[in-house]
Amino acid sequence: MSQRHFLSTLDWSRSELESLLVDAETLKQGRRSGKRHDLAGRTIALVFMNPSLRTRTSFEVGIFEMGGHAVVLEPGKGAWPIEFKDGVVMDGDAEEHVEEVARVLSRYCDLIAVRAFPKFQSWEEDRKDAVIESFARYATVPVLNMETITHPCQELALMLTLRERLGATDAKKFLLTWTYHPRPLNTAVANSALVIAAKFGFDVTLLCPTPEYVLDERYMNAAKGYVAANGRTLTVSHDIESAYAGAHVVYAKSWGALPHFGHWAAEKPIRDAHKHFIVDERKMALTADGGRGFFSHCLPLRRNVKATDAVMRSPTSLVIDEAENRLHVQKALLRRLMGLGPITGAP
Ligand code: CP
Repeated sequence: MSQRHFLSTLDWSRSELESLLVDAETLKQGRRSGKRHDLAGRTIALVFMNPSLRTRTSFEVGIFEMGGHAVVLEPGKGAWPIEFKDGVVMDGDAEEHVEEVARVLSRYCDLIAVRAFPKFQSWEEDRKDAVIESFARYATVPVLNMETITHPCQELALMLTLRERLGATDAKKFLLTWTYHPRPLNTAVANSALVIAAKFGFDVTLLCPTPEYVLDERYMNAAKGYVAANGRTLTVSHDIESAYAGAHVVYAKSWGALPHFGHWAAEKPIRDAHKHFIVDERKMALTADGGRGFFSHCLPLRRNVKATDAVMRSPTSLVIDEAENRLHVQKALLRRLMGLGPITGAP
């Protein structure tokens, strides 16, 4: 049987993901009670095509805490630039092809984790997720997504955090709100938040300035399928007040409008006209339980652009918990991808 990858949660059932969250809770609880050896003798390649604070740190720390070893590679900066297209004459910057990279790393390492953001020139090209898909095609070990056009590890961290603070997620209201950012950003975390909230039984509202900011149909359709299966709803709204009303969770993210992908000059005036989508105290006051709805964001976040200082520092802000939980969910995930079963007994 071929190895199982973690490229997108679309390929994983809710019960499989919940089983990972249970392991993550156990790992979190037992973190300080002695070193684990789940990854003893295992080496993980962390391939970063883009910068990171949380992802790199949490993976390196998590692998260390389970007795494994991490090798960080930054192609084009300390490792050779890679070609991802097939059949091209490689007379540009790339020094080697992903086929050799993935096959060679598979001989040294037990898993390859990849971060590769879109190139932001053509959504039709970027939505193919060619970098991680080509690693998965050629690797003979599991491949794990550290953020491409989705961010599945962030999804797990978000759901662990909501289980901790909100309890049951079914039939609660999840608001995914677009926020302003001076540059058009990746839709990855928005795609991810949308599908995981729908999969975990929330009533989901997507709040964005105009229909141009609705997400790719692959993720909209997946979310529609999940809410239908759960007997819940998916609502697209451009009205701030009604979207925030009664929300148990407000999840903020900025992203570029797909119809303007690669031609951002036309999108900028639309984005600039919606700076008021910032998450602030007045909007959070409309949320569930008399304004005690939770706020979160994947980080990094530009304060007083995407959310105010007061919202970030509020007791209902989950941003630091969610960032911490990256560590625990990724440890649970790495164990499983290495073929280890659910954790039994004391942490
Ligand atoms: N949330 C997240 O992935 O953070 P980094 O980009 O810092 O890794």
